[in-house]
Amino acid sequence: MATTTHQKLLIIDFGSQVSQLIARRLREAQIYCEIHPYHQVTEDFIRLDFQPQAIILSGGPESVTQPDCPLPPPAIYEMNIPILGICYGQQVMMQQLGGRVEQGHPREFGRAILTPADRHKANHDPLLTGLFEESEEIVWMSHGDRVTQLADGFEVVAQSCHAPMAAVADPVKKFYGLQFHPEVHHTVNGAQIIANFGRLAGFRGDWTMSSFHDRARVKLRREIGDAHVICGLSGGVDSVVTAALIHRALPGQLTCVFVDHGLLRENEVRDVASLYQKHFNIPLEVVDASQRFLNALQGVKEPEAKRKIIGKHFIDIFKQQAAKITGATHLAQGTLYPDVIESVSPSGGPSATIKSHHNVGGLPEQLGLQLVEPLRELFKDEVRKLGRELGLPRQFLQRHPFPGPGLAIRCPGEVTQEKMDILRKADTIFIDQIRKHGLYDDIWQAFATLLPVKSVGVMGDDRTYEFVCALRAVTSIDGMTADSFAFSHAFLSETASKIVNEVRGINRVLYDITSKPPGTIEWE
Ligand code: XMP
Repeated sequence: MATTTHQKLLIIDFGSQVSQLIARRLREAQIYCEIHPYHQVTEDFIRLDFQPQAIILSGGPESVTQPDCPLPPPAIYEMNIPILGICYGQQVMMQQLGGRVEQGHPREFGRAILTPADRHKANHDPLLTGLFEESEEIVWMSHGDRVTQLADGFEVVAQSCHAPMAAVADPVKKFYGLQFHPEVHHTVNGAQIIANFGRLAGFRGDWTMSSFHDRARVKLRREIGDAHVICGLSGGVDSVVTAALIHRALPGQLTCVFVDHGLLRENEVRDVASLYQKHFNIPLEVVDASQRFLNALQGVKEPEAKRKIIGKHFIDIFKQQAAKITGATHLAQGTLYPDVIESVSPSGGPSATIKSHHNVGGLPEQLGLQLVEPLRELFKDEVRKLGRELGLPRQFLQRHPFPGPGLAIRCPGEVTQEKMDILRKADTIFIDQIRKHGLYDDIWQAFATLLPVKSVGVMGDDRTYEFVCALRAVTSIDGMTADSFAFSHAFLSETASKIVNEVRGINRVLYDITSKPPGTIEWE
């Protein structure tokens, strides 16, 4: 359910792999939007609950030429609001309004050239304003079907080689259809098209971080009143920003709990404690449970078993701590928008569990606390912007993500104190090197992994028989897909020799160049 009072755009999701990117592009244009799966979008939801100022119909894997294909409520075309259909969304709109869609021969995937049907008209089309400065535009297509007959009131604005109706418009009703995907990076001026749609729909661009901050403060005060809140910290940016936001809205009503499970990076506890105490003066309970976790993990090698043990002990300890904080009735969590979007799975079913992710999710029911999630509407980069608004130090906001189960999932095989100590040292050297070379902000996430393999080496005149360390650094937008970062050979050899020279216990260093998919970012 929508909870905001500013201008809103509704994205009806038909299961495209890139629906989230439509939301990203809109947010960049300072337009508030939400993605809702088509099967949950009823006429009542649109008219009475969400009340959007415009609608975007996403792409999707289905074909409108098939019976029972997914459809939006036909009432959207009677609401007198602008509608943009993208790919499947264009086809669905055309079909519902009386046009025709056929299976395209040939199909069109990847880069395509878009040319205006009438240059003068295209230059004056509000959706394509600012485009066609050159005679053509590069766009990204991914479709099997295509529109072959326009619905009444529509005209062709631009075409591609295999899609003669690549951009169509009914300028009176402000209905637009694009066969290509403006939301993806490969459509060179795609962000401009999405911003243009917002503008023609009358959006003022009122989705700014300072306006969000003002509204969030008011909402938190209303939601929490005089109650006391606890917030579990991970040291990551989401929980830090959540805590800072609540502290600013309700000074004196927040206590943070940081469970040290002994699987943290070097100086993590010290750095987090100093941030909270020095910068914010927020009460912080640090619970040293490192021995308990190491004992529980003794002899356990299977990745899922490790994750489950860590999750269970974390919850038990958090529960004990929460019970000690008198008057605590609310639990704050740094849940972000990508975690709450219920996108349509292109395969039609729930996706396979690759890893049981661990954070403080699942706690509320067991603790009997009311959940507070002030970042539920934000993407990660928006959280960082909010953190800047709140005056959080840059080194905390730009931190790479760190997983709840910590270094345990960067140590395939059994976790021991000795291995954790070795891994922490290698990780610190790697990250220091990245910072020294000015690469930290270009990388989504970087870390060292200690492999359960020993290899023979020679140091001085002596034989060594020590662990192998694998370095991993990836670029990514959201952690869902990732590419290995292209370090120079000089960087890699300098870092490898530093690690081997300075960390007793490692005599060989590898660099992991697997992308995600097929790999995952973490090793376990
Ligand atoms: P994978 O390894 O699944 O990781 O490609 C994607 C992103 O999620 C992080 N990650 C976790 N974060 N709890 C977390 O809070 C977890 O259990 C967890 N497992 C993986 C990972 O570091 C990467 O950023």
